[in-house]
Amino acid sequence: MKKTIPFVEIVSTGRFLPPSVTTNADLESIVDTSNEWITTRTGIKERRLAGNEISAAQMGAKAGVDALDKSDLNASDIDLIIVSTATPDRLLPSMACDVQALIGAVNAVAFDVGGACSGFLYGLTVAEGHIATGHATNVLVIAAEKMSSILDWNDRSTCVLFGDGAGACIVQRSAGSRGIIGTYHGSDGNLAELLHRPPGGLVKMSGQEVYRNAVRSMALASERALEDAGMKAEEIDLLIPHQANVRIIESTARYSGIPMDKVFVNVDRYGNMSSATIPVAMDEAIEQGVLEEGMNVLTVAFGAGFAWGALAIKW
Ligand code: ACO
Repeated sequence: MKKTIPFVEIVSTGRFLPPSVTTNADLESIVDTSNEWITTRTGIKERRLAGNEISAAQMGAKAGVDALDKSDLNASDIDLIIVSTATPDRLLPSMACDVQALIGAVNAVAFDVGGACSGFLYGLTVAEGHIATGHATNVLVIAAEKMSSILDWNDRSTCVLFGDGAGACIVQRSAGSRGIIGTYHGSDGNLAELLHRPPGGLVKMSGQEVYRNAVRSMALASERALEDAGMKAEEIDLLIPHQANVRIIESTARYSGIPMDKVFVNVDRYGNMSSATIPVAMDEAIEQGVLEEGMNVLTVAFGAGFAWGALAIKW
């Protein structure tokens, strides 16, 4: 679907990161690893872990309230809540319903989307569809991930990579030229076994194959979203990629033709928070003055499924 005029825009963003910081040095006492290995292979230096004090839904609710506080809306104005999560606290009800209750969004419909690391971008596209068809007006899209709850803390090849956190944004019908102007999503369930969590089990991953597929698919998704927007890479002011590994980010930027000084990176501080990385990065980029109104933004993700996608946004 080619869109020269955006249907929807992001009117505010929010985030919540649990306060407890776990450094690479802290992990050296848990598994046979080193700060040097983690830093050189991934760029990650520390991550936040939620512990037992806070659930994924509570993190999502806090991020949602932050986005509401930065908008001119109240919780009762929200008519749709979409939560992306791969780490629900419980399987019934949806996390979105738990978040609805926590924030008092009494007039909202609430449901989850499952797109793993790409879930926030999928959630934005679902929000766009609901707004375009007139079924929703003020949509709260949240990504909340407690990755620490599904990690094998004896497996050094996975446990050092991830962190906990939540991000959110409010989406409304576009009032002008701001908004999502290019979209591309893809999935390949044939490769599911390369990154999965068996029922009742913990995350299992074939790191090198995930790495190769991530770079290839993120570069492709970026290209297709730009095509959909009728834009060239040179026109992009800021790339906000899923934050899994700084080497994946650098390769994606290189293949997409976007220099690293136009790429937002915070994986060093948070590790891979699955679908929460992109909304957290958006919110931090705004706060740091790196992301400003009028900019051309490209955001791209890849994760379990495999499932990937990219959006071009006039901010
Ligand atoms: N500390 C020390 N050594 C380790 C660790 C660790 N934490 N983990 C693995 N090793 C060892 C391995 O055992 C192996 O040792 P060996 O040579 O004696 O067998 C050696 O390091 C090299 O292992 P590789 O897996 O070949 O290392 P690689 O350079 O591929 O890096 C990594 C591994 C970082 C996981 C990389 O493959 C990667 O980033 N893959 C993408 C994974 C990812 O990001 N997944 C997240 C979900 S998908 C997404 O979000 C994009």
